[in-house]
Amino acid sequence: MDARFLVTTPIPGPGLPLLEEKGSVTVLPEPPSYSRLRELCSSGDYDVVLTQLRDTVDADLLAEAQVKGVSNFAVGYNNIDVKAATSHGILVGNTPGVLTDATADVAMALILGTSRRVIEADRMVREGRFRGWEPELLLGRDISGSVLGLAGFGRIARAVARRALGFGMEVLFSPRPPGDRPVGREELGEFADRVQQVPWDELVTRSDFLSLHVPLTEQTHHLVDADVFKLMKPGAILINTARGPVVDEKALVAALRDGEIAAAGLDVYEDEPRLAEGLTELPNTMLLPHVGSATVPVRAEMSRLSALNAVAMVTSQEPPHLVNPEVLK
Ligand code: GLV
Repeated sequence: MDARFLVTTPIPGPGLPLLEEKGSVTVLPEPPSYSRLRELCSSGDYDVVLTQLRDTVDADLLAEAQVKGVSNFAVGYNNIDVKAATSHGILVGNTPGVLTDATADVAMALILGTSRRVIEADRMVREGRFRGWEPELLLGRDISGSVLGLAGFGRIARAVARRALGFGMEVLFSPRPPGDRPVGREELGEFADRVQQVPWDELVTRSDFLSLHVPLTEQTHHLVDADVFKLMKPGAILINTARGPVVDEKALVAALRDGEIAAAGLDVYEDEPRLAEGLTELPNTMLLPHVGSATVPVRAEMSRLSALNAVAMVTSQEPPHLVNPEVLK
């Protein structure tokens, strides 16, 4: 019998044709509600479901699900209870690697945009408030010579480090979960002698830019909270291209409002698409709608990888990017 794939929202790129070669494909016109997704997954009508970040695949859904696998169209998979999936023998796939540079580019865009007040400047021009060159117009700060602190030192953090070094920044990092696991020279590779590992508290206190590159886990939930904002420099800028709940967003609004930190550049939010009250009113924020991986080639690769994972799940091959290989043992 042909495989039956459920795709929870339209995706670009080669993914759908790849699935169509192997079976029937149902693409929902927009992300389903939780209850609809649960119903579809337990219907017995689908072998694999291709999900995206807005789909909550929790333990209750997985307990009833009659699918062999969940292929997530994302590198992060905090929307899926992987432990529960594993306990039910359900495979989980993701799309690592292909969005590393694109996400690092967005982190740099936020670093540059917040330090040079790009949003305020753009608004001034559009609103007809530009009166010509002025010595004191929209003065920002230099990023060269400033300290970039990376929370995490995985693929995306390293890609940001590479860029930041090119801009003449001093780069510090604390590995994930920000802690004291020593990162040796071999693991540092090209970054040996060019970046410095420091304990989390030192990272927080020394950074001019604190950029988050950790997955969302129980350990990283609200990693950056009111206590952290108190430790940060008053001129510091927070950059988040990881996951919203890593930051206590209410505390962030208070810290920005009270001048505990200078600015924030965010691509992710604690309760997307809702934003903490007051965030949009603050001039010292640059707010993007979760577009870290949003380039045409990257989304095409994510599409291809998520489809290859899904096809492998129904053909008893090992998916190229399997999050829970224990299921196959
Ligand atoms: C995007 O946020 C992803 O995890 O792919």
